[in-house]
Amino acid sequence: MIKVVHTIKEVRQEVENWRKEGKSVGFVPTMGYLHEGHQSLIANSVKDNDKTVVSVFVNPMQFGVGEDLESYPRDLEKDTKLCEETGADLIFNPEPEEMYAKGFCSFVDMNGLTKELCGKSRPIHFRGVCTVVSKLFNIVRPDKAYFGQKDAQQLAVIKRMVADLNIAVEVIGCPIIREEDGLAKSSRNTYLSAEERKAALILSKSIFAGKKMVEEGMRDSKELIKAMTDIINTEKLAKIDYVDVVDFETIEKCDKIQGETLVAIAVYIGKTRLIDNFIVDVK
Ligand code: PAF
Repeated sequence: MIKVVHTIKEVRQEVENWRKEGKSVGFVPTMGYLHEGHQSLIANSVKDNDKTVVSVFVNPMQFGVGEDLESYPRDLEKDTKLCEETGADLIFNPEPEEMYAKGFCSFVDMNGLTKELCGKSRPIHFRGVCTVVSKLFNIVRPDKAYFGQKDAQQLAVIKRMVADLNIAVEVIGCPIIREEDGLAKSSRNTYLSAEERKAALILSKSIFAGKKMVEEGMRDSKELIKAMTDIINTEKLAKIDYVDVVDFETIEKCDKIQGETLVAIAVYIGKTRLIDNFIVDVK
């Protein structure tokens, strides 16, 4: 039976015991309501490391006013089952008070990388992500940590934070996992009504079309953004937050598609904000 612990002290104790036995430790930070996307991160960690810790914590600090903190789906029982089936060894499921004790007032923030894409419409989001992830890294002290490419900006931000703050962890990005019809797996997909679920396919449709255009030689960002925007706008339930082309390392806008480039979109389907992307490396 997989162990579920709720305190920092218990995680430290477990990891310390493993370390004494010379075991390597992989870590998958999550907000729970796990799906096949998370499962692939856990499976990668289990493959690469002797032990795997999964954190399940809906981090209040990364939700802005009016966002879905309260309604964010939660199901620890189902998460525990998925972690166990996938071979993880420990779940860390703290209460907010355990992570943010009374008087908490220290934060990890970033000047670059967070101005574009999701940082524009979610101004406090990455400060919350950087703060909680650096805390989790300090608690678990893993050798390797696994993040999904679906949150590509988050992946770039975490890589930058780890380099800038000399955190001794290897950050590993894992590919987007999709539903059979193309929709990127997300805990937020559960918010969609049947009609919205159909409409949400417009995201992957524009992503696949955009990727094909780049593969066929399109290099002008404006042209690509326009083509993808036109596709998304054919869906009446879709409202675009952004369609953008940025350098994957710096998350700065680029006019031309060259080097490692992130093409990312965020689209409201009804009230639900969904994201998707592709990364190309154009020599
Ligand atoms: O990607 C997520 O689920 C969250 O942003 C993370 C990395 C677990 C931090 O709360």
